[in-house]
Amino acid sequence: MRVPLSLPITVLSLLSSTVAYPYGETEAVLLREPETNQAKANAVKEAFQHAWDGYMKYAFPHDELTPVSNGHADSRNGWGASAVDALSTAVIMGKEDVVNTILEHVRDIDFSETSDTVSLFETTIRYLGGMLSGYDLLQGPAKDLVSDQSLVDGLLTQSRNLADVLKFAFNTPSGVPYNNLNITSNGNDGATTNGLAVTGTLVLEWTRLSDLTDDKEYAKLSQKAESYLLSPKPSSSEPFPGLVGSSINIKTGQFADASVSWNGGDDSFYEYLIKMYVYDPKRFATYKDRWVLAAESAIKHLQAHPETRPDLTFLSSYNNGNYDLSSQHLTCFDGGSFILGGTVLDRQDFIDFGLELVNGCEATYNSTLSKIGPDSWGWDPKRVPDDQKDFYEKAGFYINSGAYVLRPEVIESFYYAHRVTGKEIYRDWVWNAFVAINSTCRTDSGFAAVSDVNQANGGSKYDNQESFLFAEVLKYSYLAHSEDAAWQVQKGDKNTFVFNTEAHPVRVVRD
Ligand SMILES: *[C@@H]1O[C@H](CO)[C@@H](O)[C@H](O)[C@H]1NC(C)=O
Ligand SMILES: *[C@@H]1O[C@H](CO)[C@@H](O)[C@H](O)[C@H]1NC(C)=O
Ligand SMILES: *[C@@H]1O[C@H](CO)[C@@H](O)[C@H](O)[C@H]1NC(C)=O
Repeated sequence: MRVPLSLPITVLSLLSSTVAYPYGETEAVLLREPETNQAKANAVKEAFQHAWDGYMKYAFPHDELTPVSNGHADSRNGWGASAVDALSTAVIMGKEDVVNTILEHVRDIDFSETSDTVSLFETTIRYLGGMLSGYDLLQGPAKDLVSDQSLVDGLLTQSRNLADVLKFAFNTPSGVPYNNLNITSNGNDGATTNGLAVTGTLVLEWTRLSDLTDDKEYAKLSQKAESYLLSPKPSSSEPFPGLVGSSINIKTGQFADASVSWNGGDDSFYEYLIKMYVYDPKRFATYKDRWVLAAESAIKHLQAHPETRPDLTFLSSYNNGNYDLSSQHLTCFDGGSFILGGTVLDRQDFIDFGLELVNGCEATYNSTLSKIGPDSWGWDPKRVPDDQKDFYEKAGFYINSGAYVLRPEVIESFYYAHRVTGKEIYRDWVWNAFVAINSTCRTDSGFAAVSDVNQANGGSKYDNQESFLFAEVLKYSYLAHSEDAAWQVQKGDKNTFVFNTEAHPVRVVRD
């Protein structure tokens, strides 16, 4: 394994701590890279605890810590997003005290009150997904962690309360929901279309809620909305089999365009097609068929190789005869999706292509000075910025946005690659990414987004720590190094949990 780039920084900080602490042992331990996976898992736990302590000290019960100024922000309606998003990770890490703190917080949330617009999508994936996952884990393989069963039951009660607050969103002529809601007036933002991802990334959480409560309404609402995505109209909105446009008319359920990609805005629609099949292969075979078509079409039509680095594979996007040769950190969930679909359906071609995508995403990480990948990049030879000609020549891409906002998708796909192939290289890549994030983004109270991954120190720090740091980055980093468990991704059809798009494991349906 390569030596983490952070080593010189670590050495510097150790030198100063040698002055502060006259005891030699701490330094010796820190200097050595952890040798075992257990030690690496513990290092991820340490990072989680660091961020949790900062959040508790400065921000709880607000949505998130502002990690540079040590204050707080409420970007997700002020219901304590970081706490709810941290729950399933804290359960998996076995952090009993953190879990109890979160459960007591969830019990006291009033989901009917907020002064801000509510995003149906964000609220579903973070809050609803977080609570349902906590319930599934604490009712199942992590049963021993919490002694007060009423706190566990409260997760389901509150999931239902939240869904009951939100469900008016689906009350439209077609059943395609509004995304931006006023829950005080049961109003909306007046949009005429809704996006592909925000419409198509509800069905796992809302179906799970119905399955757990025996109230079919939630599943029905989300599946009705999804039905328009599974049978797209007009036919021109599906330029390649399975690949569909990016916005849907709320009145008619018809697609409003034929702009195709696996990027942000479209991404988790494709992700959930195969995950619904993992959730329940009996009920969701059609979803799987649609995913297979989309995956085959992506291989055939969207696969792209930079001129200067033909060994790399990215997915381009397509609109009306034109290909856009650019991609995003968000898109890097794609490798994991192909690998999951490939192993579940026993399709080695999908696994192989997923690993190609994983390699491409690793290249975006290991080509930069911080060893973290950019938020977006391109490889169109006609658009290379003058000051990036050398970089493009070598790396195969140029950076469009060099920010890193604590996104998980690259580590997520490394994790799938490791679980399914068993190859150590992918776990090493998780570790390298974690070490780079820990050394680049860490502040005294948590982790900050950074402005420029192609500076060794990440450029400047933004005063922002998204709740998905807890839900996703630290969870996938931890899972890659911790032992096998019921919630881990498995090869073939052995999965007993499936991860929602916010990395909350949801228990699958088994007879
Ligand atoms: C929601 O509607 C209420 C009642 O009409 C209004 O007072 C409030 O300002 C609205 N909230 C938002 C975020 O627009
Ligand atoms: C950098 O990424 C490329 C492309 O995935 C890979 O082949 C190479 O092994 C990576 N380098 C290191 C040092 O991990
Ligand atoms: C993460 O950063 C902290 C603070 O600099 C350091 O003590 C710790 O050793 C780092 N962890 C790893 C695995 O590099």
